[in-house]
Amino acid sequence: MATSLIRRLFLLVVTAIMTCCIAPAAEVSDFDSINLYTLTNQNNMVVKITNYGATITSIIVPDRNGDMADVALGYDNVESYINAANRPYFGSVVGRYGNRIAQGQFTLDGKEYTLATNDGENHLHGGQMGFDKVVWDAERVDNGVKMTYRARDGEEGYPGNLTLSVSYTLTNENAIVMHYEATTDKPTVVNVTNHTYFNLAGEGEPTINDHILRINASKFTPVDSGLIPTGELRDVAGTPFDFRAPKPIGRDLQSNDPQLQHGLGYDHNWVLDREEAGLELAATLYEAHSGRVLDVLTTEPAIQFYGGNFLNGNLIGKSGKPYQHRSGLCLETQHSPDSPNRPEWPSTTLRPGEKYETTTVYRFGVK
Ligand code: GLA
Repeated sequence: MATSLIRRLFLLVVTAIMTCCIAPAAEVSDFDSINLYTLTNQNNMVVKITNYGATITSIIVPDRNGDMADVALGYDNVESYINAANRPYFGSVVGRYGNRIAQGQFTLDGKEYTLATNDGENHLHGGQMGFDKVVWDAERVDNGVKMTYRARDGEEGYPGNLTLSVSYTLTNENAIVMHYEATTDKPTVVNVTNHTYFNLAGEGEPTINDHILRINASKFTPVDSGLIPTGELRDVAGTPFDFRAPKPIGRDLQSNDPQLQHGLGYDHNWVLDREEAGLELAATLYEAHSGRVLDVLTTEPAIQFYGGNFLNGNLIGKSGKPYQHRSGLCLETQHSPDSPNRPEWPSTTLRPGEKYETTTVYRFGVK
């Protein structure tokens, strides 16, 4: 009785935070199990995560003067996450295969699989009802929350019942540690990542083109006009894709490199220069006005830098401001797109008895 009362009160508070008026949408039947979890640390950093899509909805961090701002794009109500036009994937986990698979097809152990296609003729971020569009189970863990989703054999066309968990923990070094684990009962492919859009000046600020970005990669994967890699690993040297030394994102955006036309800007995959397997610094983002710095560390082999090219001012964020073209950027740690069709690239296959395990860290600071 007491537990049920506490749970009801908790849900009420959560509901008040999440939305003024939650109404069931066709796709989601268990609204009562959608909650919002708030992580805080001793520096008053705040991270909010909902188990709808295992989505990071807010990241509130200090600037160099100690003034706090929310640097993650998103909404203040769950309905907007469910109904968002053009599906921006704000803050969500994307998968079972984050990024694109050409024509939604791949062959595994001699068997051909056909996936849902939801990006022209290609498969993107797990299909029509990817991991961003489902309700995850959630449990509290030390300094964080762990979310689990059980994807069915055949869901969106993928083989194998997949059990995937992601734990989010917040450290006193202002780092969000995301640890993913998965197992399967049939051979399958897995490539999950977090799709947070950052604006280190604060969400709702008009552009990220003045942010300074460094990516620890000397090669990237050129793409065709459908953003499917051609198979080439191209040197970044002498191209607008060279972020080995920190550079403002907007500096080379007007270049007439055909790759920038295919991506409508930056929407490409960089293959990380790794010293060894393990957690390594992949990218650093800096915004000079606030002094905020974001380091992205990962165990993954590659990173997609997406410059918010599809934002067009139609989506209104938490602060009531429209999210303008290129007002947020994603740094999605992952395997390269279409890897299931590129046997020469690091494998994304997961087999029964194996464990998929990756870690990515968003670490905030100032300078
Ligand atoms: C990814 C893709 C982009 C776009 C966004 C969502 O980052 O690479 O092309 O689909 O997701 O808008």
